[in-house]
Amino acid sequence: MNDMNIVERNVTTDTFKITARKVQVYYGEKHAIKDVDVDILDKTVTAFIGPSGCGKSTFLRCINRMNDTIDVARVEGEIKLDGENIYDKRVDPVQLRAKVGMVFQKPNPFPKSIYDNVAYGPRIHGLARNRADLDEIVEKSLRGAALWNEVKDRLQEPGTGLSGGQQQRLCIARAVATAPEVLLMDEPCSALDPIATSQVEELIDQLRKEFSVVIVTHSMQQAARVSQKTAFFHLGNLVEYGDTDDIFTNPQDPRTESYISGRIG
Ligand SMILES: Nc1ncnc2c1ncn2[C@@H]1O[C@H](COP(=O)(O)OP(=O)(O)O)[C@@H](O)[C@H]1O
Ligand SMILES: [Mg+2]
Repeated sequence: MNDMNIVERNVTTDTFKITARKVQVYYGEKHAIKDVDVDILDKTVTAFIGPSGCGKSTFLRCINRMNDTIDVARVEGEIKLDGENIYDKRVDPVQLRAKVGMVFQKPNPFPKSIYDNVAYGPRIHGLARNRADLDEIVEKSLRGAALWNEVKDRLQEPGTGLSGGQQQRLCIARAVATAPEVLLMDEPCSALDPIATSQVEELIDQLRKEFSVVIVTHSMQQAARVSQKTAFFHLGNLVEYGDTDDIFTNPQDPRTESYISGRIG
């Protein structure tokens, strides 16, 4: 395993939001994530890049235990959030996912009103004492997702009636409504047009003031634009991790170099 060891640079000893050690994921016999160690900072955007099928989504799903929902998936190793092992038997995955929110590739609003999409999480987690509280959470979340001005007069209309970019921002609002600490985004712009993409990228830059953001992207340009840290995955290994600028201008591993220069992937 060690010949595949990660080249780690510029990783300071700041307190880490997430620490992963020796993480393995198997889908039946298939070993999809191999011995991954990584430390993820708070108030930072970390990008996961690498060729299709290298394990980016699989590893992202380890961070909020979404792989638990896949029958054949098995996760080993340790992932800590603020020093607590999220795979501990005492951890309730539903509670965990309120703390570690997720936004998917295709916007997936519930078939409910704009208001109810955002209010859903706070309601099931009992975060509002009364309607005024809930109204406040909904407004704050929609503002946080840079969507409030576009929807404030139509909160009772269906979320599915919004444009694709608005729907994705609605999903971001829904994720932030439960006051998470970490936001996981799996190629959140891949179904969006360039204008909606740049709005979501701007939003990601805002979100990092409050959250630890981890984004999977197949676009190296996007990784370079939005992230401060980048992790390069290849065939289930985390090959290289460091400051985004360094990864793109001075990669240490030949596999990273090939990928960013367009020779693989
Ligand atoms: N639900 C699943 N069942 C079986 N194999 C899977 C499943 N999801 C992903 N894989 C396999 O795991 C590997 C990593 O996939 P994935 O994490 O989706 O890669 P990426 O997001 O980098 O494209 C691939 O070989 C893929 O075929
Ligand atoms: Mg993926």
